[in-house]
Amino acid sequence: MTGGATGIGRATATRLAGDGAAVVVNYIGDPSPAEELVADLRGDRGRALAVEADVSDEAQVEAMFDRAGEELGGEIDILVNNAGVERPYPLVDMPLEEWNRVLAVNLTGPFLCAREAARRLIAGRLPGVIVNVSSVHEVIPWPEFAHYCASKGGMKLFGQTIARELAPHEIRVVQVGPGAILTPINQDLIEDPDKRREVEEEIPWGRMGKPEEVAAAIAWLASAEAGYVTGSTLFVDGGMTLYPRFV
Ligand code: NAI
Ligand code: BGC
Repeated sequence: MTGGATGIGRATATRLAGDGAAVVVNYIGDPSPAEELVADLRGDRGRALAVEADVSDEAQVEAMFDRAGEELGGEIDILVNNAGVERPYPLVDMPLEEWNRVLAVNLTGPFLCAREAARRLIAGRLPGVIVNVSSVHEVIPWPEFAHYCASKGGMKLFGQTIARELAPHEIRVVQVGPGAILTPINQDLIEDPDKRREVEEEIPWGRMGKPEEVAAAIAWLASAEAGYVTGSTLFVDGGMTLYPRFV
C-alpha cells in the first residue's frame, strides 16, 4: 500500500488487514502515522509493516519489496499504487520542477512499483493484482492541474497496457477512480464551507466521499470475486463523472 499512512491509503490498509491480508504500509517523511497504524493493525492480530520509501526512487522501491518479502514472508500479491500529490498552477506559471515532481510520484512511482511486483510474481509463477488509484481526473480535465491530470490520464493507459501484458501471467491490473474524498489532500477544501459547497454541487450524490468507500471498492477489486476484471476503471465518485452541469 503506497502512501498508506493517511487518507485513502490508511483506510485501505485497515480494510485489507481486516480482510486477513498482511499489509506493508509505505510512507515518506514522518514515521509516526505509519507506525501508529501498524501498531493498531498488529493489535487486531494482523500482520503489518511500515516501510519508508519514496515511490519515485528506483533503489528505494526495490529495497521496500526486499524488506516486505523478508519480514512478511512471500511476495507482494496485491499492490495498491495509492501515493499521490497535487498542487495547482496555471500552465503559464507551472515550474518544471513541480511538473516533474507530480509526474514522478503519481506516474513513475506506480511504474516502478508495478514493475517490481510483476517481476517477482512472474519469477515465482504467482498470480496477483495491481490496483492503481487514479482519479475522476483520469477523464475530467481540471484547470490548473495539467500535471495531475496528465499523471492520472497516463495512469489509465499505463494500467490498461500492462493489463494486457500481464494477463498471461494471471496478474490483473485495475484502476479505482475516486471523486472528491474527505482526506488530507483536500484539507483546504474541507476547511472552507463555500468551496466545499461548490464542489458538492458538482456531485450528483450531493456530498464528498469517505475514504472507507474507496477502500471497499479497492478490496473488492483485489478479491477473487473480481477475478474476471482487468484493465477497467471503477469510479467511486458519487456520480461526478456524469457531468451534472452539462444540460
Ligand atoms: P493523502 O495526501 O492523504 O495521501 C497521499 C499519500 O501519498 C500521503 O500519505 C503522502 O505522504 C504519500 N506520498 C506522497 N509522496 C510520496 C512519495 N514520493 N512516496 C511515497 N508516498 C508518498 O490524500 P489521499 O486523498 O488519500 O490520496 C491518495 C490517492 O488518491 C492519491 O493518488 C490521489 O491522487 C488519489 N485521489 C484522491 C482523491 C481525493 O479526493 N482525496 C480523489 C481522486 C484521487
Ligand atoms: C483530487 C481531489 C479532488 C477530486 C475531485 C482528486 O483527484 O485529488 O483534490 O477533490 O479529484 O476533483
